[in-house]
Amino acid sequence: MSHREALQDFVRTKVKATRVVVVSNRQPYMHTYEGDRIIWRRPAGGVVVALDPVLRVAKGCWVAAGQTEADRNVTDEDGRVRVPPEDPQYSLRRVWLAKEQEEGYYNGFSNEVLWPLCHTAFTRPIFRAADWQHYQGVNRLFADAALKEAGPGRALIWTQDYHLALCPQLLKAARPDLSVAHFWHIPWPNPEVFRICPWRRELLEGLLGSDLLGFHIRYHCDNFLATVANELEAKIITDQSAVQYRGRTTLVRPFPISIDYHRIVQDLDSPEVVEETRRIERLLGGRPEFLAVGVDRIDYTKGIVERLQAIDRFLERYPRYLGRFVYLGVGAPSRIHLPAYRQLRGEIAQQVEEINWKYGTETWQPVVLFDQQVSYPRVLAYLAMADVCLVTALHDGMNLVAKEFIATQQGEEPGVLILSRFTGANRELTEALPINPYDIEGSAEAIRQGLEMPREERVRRCRWLQEQIRDHDIYRWALEMLTELRRVRRGRL
Ligand code: G6P
Repeated sequence: MSHREALQDFVRTKVKATRVVVVSNRQPYMHTYEGDRIIWRRPAGGVVVALDPVLRVAKGCWVAAGQTEADRNVTDEDGRVRVPPEDPQYSLRRVWLAKEQEEGYYNGFSNEVLWPLCHTAFTRPIFRAADWQHYQGVNRLFADAALKEAGPGRALIWTQDYHLALCPQLLKAARPDLSVAHFWHIPWPNPEVFRICPWRRELLEGLLGSDLLGFHIRYHCDNFLATVANELEAKIITDQSAVQYRGRTTLVRPFPISIDYHRIVQDLDSPEVVEETRRIERLLGGRPEFLAVGVDRIDYTKGIVERLQAIDRFLERYPRYLGRFVYLGVGAPSRIHLPAYRQLRGEIAQQVEEINWKYGTETWQPVVLFDQQVSYPRVLAYLAMADVCLVTALHDGMNLVAKEFIATQQGEEPGVLILSRFTGANRELTEALPINPYDIEGSAEAIRQGLEMPREERVRRCRWLQEQIRDHDIYRWALEMLTELRRVRRGRL
């Protein structure tokens, strides 16, 4: 039985009387106007990639923030729309935020406090009391919407990530009978770092409303437990990896998130991906002899500046690649209203310009950068074509692009994954070429090594990695989390 079938089976037999509600800030589908026509797309980022396949199986409802006028115009009076738009399987309930709420809760507290606090990328968090107020208000808004969607009966509410740390407690306070799981998609820092946050106790108490709290790796769980031990009068039950606080128990466990491996393999042959591959080849004037690819949201945690420095150094050190090597970077603009992100975009553009000026000729540019949102088929086409994929994150909870890349390498000449040691994925994908992205010389050398790796070794490494990801796909992630939740709820899901 595949993991997908096992999850389906579990949902059908064990969760059948339970309503499943997923809650996240980012919605899985976004509608926009193109002229007077409404089109839709899937936003970038790990949460959406991971949970959409799960809800397709579980049906139920996904609560998330709506963004656009088109988003409003396709929903009913309760903010609901059926998705995926091409083949409706579950309902999306949109929550509407006022401008100042989005500013304070999303831009401010989520992305200028929690994001830099949890990622070791040396960007300083900015604490503002007004942002914290909005964060609390918006968490309540999401919790209220989730409670409505849960209905009066048995329900499981699965909240997501750093935007919604207060939701679990709000849900439990309103309905102690609910099953509540929370998954934290980014790293959890050590207690020394977390203790600078003025609202650390409230955040911890919020998360401890959940029955089950998941992180990608054991190290993040241990950091969380150590933080709780430092900040709250809670009992840590070390051998069970659990916290007892105010009469409730929260189990804290690692669940390394993953991708829908089989779907990617299947989609590789779709007409859309084939067409995108042709389009890229036309754009590059044919398939380059050596192609490196990077796909990220433009974020200072992704090490894009360091990656470009490594490419510069690689070309400097190995001039035999001049005219023969191209780096194709896809940078999806992200959090563009924040100064740190705007500044980074400028920095990247300048660096690309400098590298291309330094090495480029009339007929060849070493770096081609698409600074735009790209469609899923296009991402697959880019990844599938690559000889090496560069994942250079300075710190990352997991990094699903690394796994997506491996899934796309189905041909007889598989590419090589160069993977930052500071990603959660590095713990599982041990046959990738590991790098420290701060070590520019080391990364430049890894690019050379990746491009020159003998075919036999590439095949061996890639097939091993494929097996690992196939065996630990997104359905298994969901199934393991739900099974564990059922266990802590003593069979009551
Ligand atoms: C990370 C976070 C997600 C987030 C995604 C995209 O993967 O863990 O929660 O959705 O980045 O970021 P954005 O701010 O565009 O939602």
